Amino acid sequence: MTITAPAHQRLPSPQSITDACSAALAAHADAEGPLLPILHEVQARLGCLPNAVFPIVAEALNISAAEVHGVASFYPDFHTAPAGQHRLKICRAEACQAVGGRAIETMAQEIFGVAWHGTTDDGALTLEPVYCLGLCACGPAAMLDNTPVGRVDAAALQQIKAQVQS
Ligand code: FES
Repeated sequence: MTITAPAHQRLPSPQSITDACSAALAAHADAEGPLLPILHEVQARLGCLPNAVFPIVAEALNISAAEVHGVASFYPDFHTAPAGQHRLKICRAEACQAVGGRAIETMAQEIFGVAWHGTTDDGALTLEPVYCLGLCACGPAAMLDNTPVGRVDAAALQQIKAQVQS
């Protein structure tokens, strides 16, 4: 019996990783400060940055894989595993915390059944922390894909759950 992981948990194949790295290196390796553009392009091609990317890029740029991994893990927009179909970012910065953000964080994790950076079992949604969305005046704030959501409460989270599962 073959057990197949849900689509959002499947990592890209070794060949697709090699191809994505080759294309990104060809496009950016000669640029000044090439690491970030390379990582962005690889992620755009693969949907994530699997760990196998780091030694390939490191060797090409003559830096250590640890250095590449360090840069990739510093930026929250880089992901080592494929995300769900939708991304819900919840603001954890001060202005939102001051108007109940912490309760919303807990509520979101309970409603979706995942921790930060987790993806629901059906692959519908990945929950991500973010530090200010520029929506401080209408916190607690969130962003569903590219749609801002202000004054988030339990009803809004349930509505998002229904929306991403439909
Ligand atoms: S502090 Fe939450 S949007 Fe700015």
